[in-house]
Order: sequence, then structure tokens, then C-alpha cells
Amino acid sequence: MASRSLLCLYAFVLFSLATADFSAALSPYFYNKVCPKALPTIKRVVEAAVQKEKRMGASLLRLHFHDCFVNGCDASILLDATSTIDSEKNAGANANSARGFNVVDDIKSQVDKVCGRPVVSCADILAVAARDSVVALGGPSWTVQLGRRDSTTASRTDANNNIPSPFMDLPALITRFSNQGLDTKDLVALSGGHVIGFAQCNFFKNRIYNESNIDPAFARARQSTCPPNGGDTKLAPLDPTAARFDTGYFTNLVKRRGLLHSDQALFNGGSTDTLVKTYSTNFGAFSADFAKSMVKMGNIKPLTGKKGQIRVNCRKVN
Ligand code: HEM
Repeated sequence: MASRSLLCLYAFVLFSLATADFSAALSPYFYNKVCPKALPTIKRVVEAAVQKEKRMGASLLRLHFHDCFVNGCDASILLDATSTIDSEKNAGANANSARGFNVVDDIKSQVDKVCGRPVVSCADILAVAARDSVVALGGPSWTVQLGRRDSTTASRTDANNNIPSPFMDLPALITRFSNQGLDTKDLVALSGGHVIGFAQCNFFKNRIYNESNIDPAFARARQSTCPPNGGDTKLAPLDPTAARFDTGYFTNLVKRRGLLHSDQALFNGGSTDTLVKTYSTNFGAFSADFAKSMVKMGNIKPLTGKKGQIRVNCRKVN
């Protein structure tokens, strides 16, 4: 009897081992054995790029966001257009706007060099570069989960349908985030990404000329560099201290100085007002929630195990 139970147990263990998908979960230790120099190398290249141009930190953070919202964090945003790839770079939110692709290429070639072969995915590079960018600009750090693989496809249509637009109101923003498994708290915390970086005039022109939930002095100041006609690519900071990761974005929202319509939608008499107010005076709370939500965003539908590939060139399918 005892030997029969033992046999059953043995069979069960064998079966579990055979069917378990050990590859599915991301892990912070994914490259520890295969290339321990990978993460320090990404950090070094990001720091040099941010040193050279502070805005690059913002641009790299945004790339990870725009990657994750389109069929998961799989580096689909990095694929250039070909006869079979309808590049996400040409989607509304990215065309003449997403930037930092050359820095990603630079990271990839340096990482492949120190690793001796292409073992680090472009999707993981985006996730780590986002974290290192935030840290380089004075923001919080977090442990990046690793082991994402790269897509062999891209979808401009999915990018258009999933990345939120700066003209959206709160309910639409909440929907876009909940479609990705992110809740309203994630929406507010992650919108805090706008504590750094810049936006082009065409994305906030209507707000500064036609909206009423805006501080008039702020509207006038922005109008001085964003004319009613033309000047569409002229830049304005999303936050008064665009190169420092602080709470300026939220303090601005409370003063009705949000630059984008979608920014001010987070503080406009709705359900997210309280959290915006909290973040505006509590850098610790914002930092902790931002880090938590970044990890959550980074976990959106990764390709793991045998799915996808490790690209040799982030811009091209192997
Ligand atoms: C909530 C919905 C969001 C909307 C509607 C939105 C929209 C925008 C727009 C229109 C710009 C300006 C782009 C340009 O002028 O070329 C921008 C910039 C930026 N966004 Fe967002 N965004 C959102 C959420 C996020 C999130 C979740 C993050 C990151 C966690 C993020 C990070 C950034 C950064 C860092 C920049 C500045 C990029 C640079 O200077 O190159 N945004 N965003």
C-alpha cells in the first residue's frame, strides 16, 4: 500500500515537472548567470545619454509606456516599417513624437558586446532604461522584472486604439488603463511620468486657447510660445521642473496648470482629485506608488519561454 502511494506521488511529481511552465514568470535575476554585466551596461549608457540631454530620460520612460500599452511589453514599438511590419512608430501618438530610438540602439549594441552574444531582449532594455532614466533624474528606483522576449509583429492600429490621447477626459483615460489591467490609482501615479519631459504645441493648443479650467496666467504664458496658428512643434515643459523627477506636475494640476487636457482631467472635480492632491504634497507617496505601478505596467503580457525572439537589431525582426 505504502509503495503504491509512493509510486503515485512519484508519478504526480514527474507529471508536474513535465507540465510546469517555468519560463512564464519574469524574474529580477534573469540575466544574473547569462550576462551579469547587462544591467550595469544599460545603466551606464542611459546615464551618459541623460547627462548629454536631460530630456532623453523622459523620452526613454515614454517609450516603455508606449511599448507596454500595445499588445504587451514586447518592444513592438521599436520595429521599423517594412512590407510586413505596419510600424507603431507611425501611429498618432508616436509619429514625430516618440524619440530615443538611437539611444536604445546604442544600449543594445553595447549590451550585446559585453554579453558576447544577443541574450538581452529589446523589451527588457526598454524596461530597465525607463527605471534608470527615472533614477538619473532624481526619482525612485525599483526592481525591474526581467525575461521579456521581443515580438515578431507590430500593429499601428493597436497603437492607435490603445495609447491614450491627450484630448481624453477622465472616463476614457480610466478605460484605456483598465483595458491594460491597470486601475485608476495606476492611472494617476503613472501620469506622474509627466513630472519630466516636454510636449509639442499641437497637443495643448486647444487647451490654452479654448478651455476654462485653466489658470489664465498659465494659459497666457504658454500662449507666448505656442501661437494659435502654426508653431505646432514648439515645446513646453509638462512640469515646471521638466528635468527633475519631483511633485511639480501634481502641484501644477491643483493650480489648474496642467499642460494637456488629459493632465487636467485628473484634477477637475472627479474621483481622482483626492489622489492628485495627496501626491502634490507627498513625494514619498507618489514615488512609492509610481514605482509599484511601473512594475505592474512592465508586467503587461510579456512574451516568455519560447514565444517571440531575442532580436539582434531592435528595429528588425531576426
Ligand atoms: C494618461 C495618459 C497619457 C497621455 C494622454 C499622454 C500624452 C502625452 C503627450 C501628448 C505627450 C507629448 C508628446 C509630444 O509632444 O511629442 C507626452 C509626453 C510624455 N509622456 Fe505621456 N501621456 C500619458 C501617460 C503617460 C505615462 C503613463 C507615462 C510614463 C509612465 C508618460 C510619460 C511621458 C513622458 C516622460 C513624456 C515626455 C517625453 C519627452 O519629453 O520626450 N505619459 N505624453
